[in-house]
Amino acid sequence: MADRTPDKRLQQEFNRWAQAGEGEKMERHHLDITEKTIRLMDLRPGERVLDLGCGSGWATRLLARLVTEGPEGFGQVVGIDVSDEMIRQARAASKDFDNILYVWGSAEKVPWEENFFDKVLSVESFYYYPDQDRALHELFRVMAPHGRLFILINLYKDNPYSLQWVDKLKVPVHVRSAAEYVELLKAHAFEKVETRQIPDDTPTPDDYKTTSFRSLEDLRAFKRTGALLLMASKPDLRTPAPGYTIY
Ligand SMILES: C[S@@+](CC[C@H](N)C(=O)[O-])C[C@H]1O[C@@H](n2cnc3c(N)ncnc32)[C@H](O)[C@@H]1O
Repeated sequence: MADRTPDKRLQQEFNRWAQAGEGEKMERHHLDITEKTIRLMDLRPGERVLDLGCGSGWATRLLARLVTEGPEGFGQVVGIDVSDEMIRQARAASKDFDNILYVWGSAEKVPWEENFFDKVLSVESFYYYPDQDRALHELFRVMAPHGRLFILINLYKDNPYSLQWVDKLKVPVHVRSAAEYVELLKAHAFEKVETRQIPDDTPTPDDYKTTSFRSLEDLRAFKRTGALLLMASKPDLRTPAPGYTIY
């Protein structure tokens, strides 16, 4: 990656996070909402799954256990991240898995072939992508016809408590509403676009120290309001709409 590009900046920032042990902390913070999302993914053995912005790979490993062996052969999970240090940590923690591949790369140039993935998960990563249009174009390209996309984000306008920690981030981010994200997905020809709010039901102890929120009450309200889950499908481009013929 060329120096000083937006991807290079993200790589440097998230390498710093990885070295500071944030990968494991994120597992604790994102596990509840990610498990609820994975249940909605309805994963089947044999499926091919992409974990975009996989970080230290803990969610990739959860996915890999659910798709191992089936009628279509072994399911496979690919974890992609712009931080090479996150990828190194993810590989080191996944030595027991023979159906995971971690690849260093950017959401804006997904290093994979087209029409491949049955399901895509992206946890707490999408709002960092400098060019979200480009990322959606890439996701559409690598997803299989009928493939289903699951983007989970904690930072969005409809959860006002999430706006308390934006200024603490050292890289630029997008802050959009659920309705704006729906329009974005539809503009990229995704179908069956749906949103849900996924509350985080983990308790917040009274002696918990927060630097991200003004008070513990705000943190609890943030968790109650929940993350935004965006769901969408890639249409089957091989099937014409009723009444149309492909010549
Ligand atoms: C907040 S962390 C979440 C990591 C992981 N999904 C989790 O929940 O623990 C955001 C991750 O997205 C990755 N990321 C940010 N921008 C990216 C991009 N343009 N392409 C790929 N990954 C990116 C970061 O390197 C980082 O690992």
